[in-house]
Amino acid sequence: SKTLVVTLDGPAGSGKSTLAKKLADALNFQFLDTGATYRAVTFECMHRGVNLDDTEAVKGVASSITITFSDGGQRVLIDGVDRSREIRTREVTNSISKVANKPEIREILVTLQRKIASTGQFVTEGRDQGTVCFPDALWKFYIVASPQLRAERRLAQMIQQGLPVPAEGLPAILQDVIRRDEADMSRAVGPLRKAEDAIEVSTDGQTEAESLNHLVELVHQRA
Ligand code: C5P
Repeated sequence: SKTLVVTLDGPAGSGKSTLAKKLADALNFQFLDTGATYRAVTFECMHRGVNLDDTEAVKGVASSITITFSDGGQRVLIDGVDRSREIRTREVTNSISKVANKPEIREILVTLQRKIASTGQFVTEGRDQGTVCFPDALWKFYIVASPQLRAERRLAQMIQQGLPVPAEGLPAILQDVIRRDEADMSRAVGPLRKAEDAIEVSTDGQTEAESLNHLVELVHQRA
């Protein structure tokens, strides 16, 4: 039988984060941002001066910290301290692949994600949710958008969240986005990829409301 979870996977900036939050609200489900768990481990390692190439040390951090969510899944706490902002800096973002590439870390974080999602009905969002974390999910979506649009969204997000914007502007962000796609798609364990039974949804040329309505309809079709 299928797991009553909705998974949204896709590349950075595809709009899946916003969509996942709004979809969760529309369905009266909870929301789980799994990227935040990889961000939390990366941030905490950098904060403690742990070398991200030292798998044992990173594993030590991942297995000893407590990652919790509050405010409907919007805020991320590490050992009870709100790090929602710190985990989204460009420095953390550009170092995540070193953490996310390690199978040992993925195992720890996938276990945590399953545990959190077992506490209620969830919309989960990430890269491997439909393929690895919840292969039996009843609803799976793969959200895509053009790299240009994704870079523009990232820039708008940085400005909105008051994060420092690279001096080189959009071209630098576009390069970050493309580099991260490559890293996400080429890792051996838990790569970014559409699950065979996932429905692909493009947000290109769609308003947020249009994409959301489309997803809500698709979920109701299989309820
Ligand atoms: O979704 P977000 O951009 O916050 O994810 C940050 C990074 O965390 C991704 O680029 C990816 O490397 C990693 N990640 C992952 N598996 C997930 C979610 C995120 O490897 N399920």
